[in-house]
Amino acid sequence: MSILRIGRIELRVLDLKESVDYYTRFMGLTETGRDDNSVYLKAWDEYDHHSLVLTEADSPGVDHVAFKVRHAEDLEDLNQRINEWGLSTEWLAAGSRLAEGEALVTTLPTGHRCEFYHQIERIGIAVGNTNPEPWPDDLQGVGVQRFDHCLLVGNDLEGATRFFVEVLDFHQSERLITADGTMLATFLHCTNKAHDIAFLKGPDTKLHHVGFYVGTWDNVLKAADLQSRHGVRTELTPSRHGLTRGLTTYFFDPSGNRNEAYSGGTFPYYDDEVVTWTEDQAGKAIFFHGREMIETFGEVFT
Ligand SMILES: [Fe+2]
Repeated sequence: MSILRIGRIELRVLDLKESVDYYTRFMGLTETGRDDNSVYLKAWDEYDHHSLVLTEADSPGVDHVAFKVRHAEDLEDLNQRINEWGLSTEWLAAGSRLAEGEALVTTLPTGHRCEFYHQIERIGIAVGNTNPEPWPDDLQGVGVQRFDHCLLVGNDLEGATRFFVEVLDFHQSERLITADGTMLATFLHCTNKAHDIAFLKGPDTKLHHVGFYVGTWDNVLKAADLQSRHGVRTELTPSRHGLTRGLTTYFFDPSGNRNEAYSGGTFPYYDDEVVTWTEDQAGKAIFFHGREMIETFGEVFT
């Protein structure tokens, strides 16, 4: 298969103006366009027109996630594979959203809307791609480098894992299981990132968090400094995950959607064996230093 990466996520937010202010001035994303209901944003080290779409709604959460395929003709092939596996699909016409071509749409076994696309306008990275500087001069706030991954919540993690592995040719990097082998969390990648998408056992259609790559441990610390400085609600001060070995801090956007500033992490290959964490070590798996579950982590979903 030719899925390049998770390319975008659309979040529902309660107050569009307040949210745009947060994702630009605090997180450091750039607004690249807007239409009647939504604002489109990208990070400085991304080429495509947007990776985050914010849409005003009555409740927070995730509207959809979308994966970019390498070739336009991959979408037809993907459509057939998804249908043969037993999920229905539909097509979203080009131009339905700003700067986007057509998209193939399905619903994951966890109830989340998932899209696949190839065509999207290109803007380019903030430092240019000829003799580029390592980072731009005008970084704002956290200075997010790219949208990295998301953690979604749902019940059928076995089904979600099989769909991503069997249909989309993803590889499972890590998992958290109960004593009888039931999956409590599953981590899946189509790149060499520790995860492009992951799922946590819980109520269907929910969002756990959006992970933004910030490059270094120092930038994770800086993200937490800025949370305190600007009164952003923090859930986890800078720490490490056992799962993925990622360096992390968790906090919430103004609508209550959880964000993560993330760096480091493993660099898995497709022939690596799956790393297994057992439920009795779940605290250490998720919060490697504290080794105890933070109550809100397993309870606050949007
Ligand atoms: Fe994460």
